[in-house]
Amino acid sequence: MKKRAKEMGLDDIRVNNAGCLERCELGPAMVVYPEGIWYHYENTEDIDEILEKHIVQGNPVERLLLKDGQKFLDPSPPEWLDLVVSEIMHLGDDCLTIEFKHSNGEDLPEFSAGAHLGLLFDRHRLSRYFSLINNPVETNRYLVGAKDEEGDDSMTDWIASNIKVGDEIKAHLPTNTIELNESAVQHTFFGEGSGVLPLLSMCHRLLDIDAGFKVHYLLSSLGNNFFLKELKEICGKRLTLHLSDSFSEISATISNLHNEPIENHHLYLCGSADFMTEALAKTADWPVESVHTQYMSAPKLKDSDALNFSITLARRTKTLRVGETQSVFDVLQEAGLLNLKYACEDGLCGACKVKVLFGEITHRDFVLTAAEKNQQNAMISCVSRAAEESSRLILDI
Ligand code: FES
Repeated sequence: MKKRAKEMGLDDIRVNNAGCLERCELGPAMVVYPEGIWYHYENTEDIDEILEKHIVQGNPVERLLLKDGQKFLDPSPPEWLDLVVSEIMHLGDDCLTIEFKHSNGEDLPEFSAGAHLGLLFDRHRLSRYFSLINNPVETNRYLVGAKDEEGDDSMTDWIASNIKVGDEIKAHLPTNTIELNESAVQHTFFGEGSGVLPLLSMCHRLLDIDAGFKVHYLLSSLGNNFFLKELKEICGKRLTLHLSDSFSEISATISNLHNEPIENHHLYLCGSADFMTEALAKTADWPVESVHTQYMSAPKLKDSDALNFSITLARRTKTLRVGETQSVFDVLQEAGLLNLKYACEDGLCGACKVKVLFGEITHRDFVLTAAEKNQQNAMISCVSRAAEESSRLILDI
């Protein structure tokens, strides 16, 4: 590196050997001062890139960065997208939209109806998830929706502090936890409050494929029109609005669906924890694969019965202890696996899903389907635990 820096005419930097940096498990490592930015590197191309991009241009090389406390190199870093914020719109009725384009001006990867977009902040330590609300056929932009509300600690306040037009932001590829079943003959949606957001892209898609669908939207009062105008524009007469402070009207509507044939009919429920509990109670007779859910807030979890258990990281032949009050996610973070993407930490978004190779899981999340839970080969690490009778899980990490 010293030789290369000299060849590049970098006379105002000093390159010197250090003693042990105490991160030997990461292979060759360096730290750049005065910023205190750490890198790992494997070859002369990596060194050239650090010199050219970081030292000459002042831009850290994201792909080689080491994070505080990182103890392992992630063998499969998440795929990232480079986005630029092209527009932030305050639409009235508490609605806010943010439009993103590809930072290179290229088309964006396709997303499926109902998907959400995870944006990365704080040198990728923090991700925030937003529902994509535009038509999935639009490949030139992602449009996300959020609540426009006043007050400190509100979503609007957070967005104002963290997202501005022109900002370059990294994002995970869009992920979907409430996929449409496009082979269904009829689709019926029940959305409450912010549960309307994933429905917008799904309704766009169903119109495009000319599928039969109806939407029931529950709003608590007339003054609260969260994305109602947009939903009306897409759905027209397919939309039924329920203005009520109780869930009884929606519950009765779901119960009345039993009067219609339910074969090839799929239900989609999106809303708060209380709404979901009420609505799901009315779908007990429906085939589980016909009922799709997206919780917008987490029900209170029952205290876990699970005692301590261990997790073995198969790819690293390392075993860690998960204490009574810890989550698997906490333990992985403490072990320096900071590349694990996460967002809600409530078992809602599915971002912290990990593959399980062995052991029985007690699922405590609100995102995996019943079939996925039965397979016992994946867990949502922020909330799920080893089953009482299983003292050890082997994870594909
Ligand atoms: S972080 Fe969202 S489900 Fe675990």
